[in-house]
Amino acid sequence: MKITIIGTGYVGLVTGACLAELGNDVFCLDLDQRKIDLLNSGGIPIHEPGLAEVVARNRAAGRIQFSTDVAASVAHGDVQFIAVGTPPDEDGSADLQYVLAAARNIGQHMTGFKVIVDKSTVPVGTGDRVKAALQEALTARGVAATFSVVSNPEFLKEGAAVEDFMRPDRIVIGHDKTPEGQKAAAMMKKLYAPFNRNHERTFWMDVRSAEFTKYAANSMLATRISFMNELANLADRVGVDIEAVRHGIGSDPRIGHSFLYAGAGYGGSCFPKDVQALERTARQYDQDLLILRAVEAVNDKQKLVLGQKVVKRFGEDLSGHHFAIWGLAFKPNTDDMREAPARVLVRQLLDAGATVAVYDPVAMEEAKRVLALDLSADELARVRFASSPIDALSGAEALVIVTEWKAFRSPDFVKIKTLLKHAVIFDGRNLFAPEAMVEAGFEYHGIGRSILTRS
Ligand code: UDX
Repeated sequence: MKITIIGTGYVGLVTGACLAELGNDVFCLDLDQRKIDLLNSGGIPIHEPGLAEVVARNRAAGRIQFSTDVAASVAHGDVQFIAVGTPPDEDGSADLQYVLAAARNIGQHMTGFKVIVDKSTVPVGTGDRVKAALQEALTARGVAATFSVVSNPEFLKEGAAVEDFMRPDRIVIGHDKTPEGQKAAAMMKKLYAPFNRNHERTFWMDVRSAEFTKYAANSMLATRISFMNELANLADRVGVDIEAVRHGIGSDPRIGHSFLYAGAGYGGSCFPKDVQALERTARQYDQDLLILRAVEAVNDKQKLVLGQKVVKRFGEDLSGHHFAIWGLAFKPNTDDMREAPARVLVRQLLDAGATVAVYDPVAMEEAKRVLALDLSADELARVRFASSPIDALSGAEALVIVTEWKAFRSPDFVKIKTLLKHAVIFDGRNLFAPEAMVEAGFEYHGIGRSILTRS
């Protein structure tokens, strides 16, 4: 099928590349000339396992092209995916200006029937607004072409996006019951047929319910995390191991094991933004989503917990103290630092007067960029960007782990002990067994595992 993807950000690029991999003829549009030039020269603007290979293979096969040409992009695809950004505006609601601009562009150029797919995470009712914006542009041109707007939210996880797209656990499609809506549904069915061969994975619903499903999923997952984080903080006080509790409750099939990991708080481009946006939608309809407000507040507090543990151990005034930080990306297998807990930790330690050495397996360039924005020049001068995990340790008082990269899971503890001034580890992702750490001679501070001191 002929497909156009509007926006070559994270979602757009993964969707475009994977649809090309399935044999479709994909046209990716972006207004950012530099991004298009990079993609056309074989580069990839984001770090995502497997993505570069899929893009390269399909470029070579002529199944995917990248361009800034709006008219050509509209002419190309019978199905037009809108996958542009929906950043939060000041009040937390999703800013739809890029989505609506994409809809207007389609209306300004289309001549025959098109399916418009909202792939961006958009609040309930956006489908209607996209329809209105597109219809307005068509009417202004005096063109009577028909179209239908479909909602098809993405559930990709960063770091596993290609895999998630190729092996979806569900495909959610919201469409209208009108004849155009049915025609659009038939085209979507054909497009996603390769995923439904063995068993049906598509859930068909109306557009609003599909839009809502995405927010409901992310809010539910964020709620589980905040709930576990709050229990972990209590566990710390009452002498309970939250990891034992996690196993104890996760084995109940009604609860399940996923997303029960206490830690340094959730970050990324989705959870914080989507929780806020759903709260905002509720407020517009005169409902106060009490649980989600708490989920957000707990997460904001949770990002401070690691730093508070450091202060509790080394004192309020950390001047003259130096710490090593492992893990800067908001989670492993990505260089994304949006809303990353590490940014809060760096700020906290610097505010208390400390200096830090930071290391991340892939996010170093991104860290240099975002920390230059977060910090003043004087503060930035107190951050050393280390070349390896071991390099980060030299001269440090203690090690603080913020992201659970695989490379941090079985480190050389003997070397760590020799390099650190004190054998103290603050582990924001509960990577190690406290007893084993104590046995290895460490003072180990996990999240919700009670403080275990070297005997
Ligand atoms: C999420 C959803 O999982 C995905 O379906 C949606 O499309 C986009 O948002 P993503 O933001 O890429 O994906 O990351 P995810 O793996 O879900 O982790 C989000 C955050 O929660 C990370 O900061 C992670 O460290 C944290 N987390 C996750 C926990 O603190 N505990 C857990 O048990 C799980």
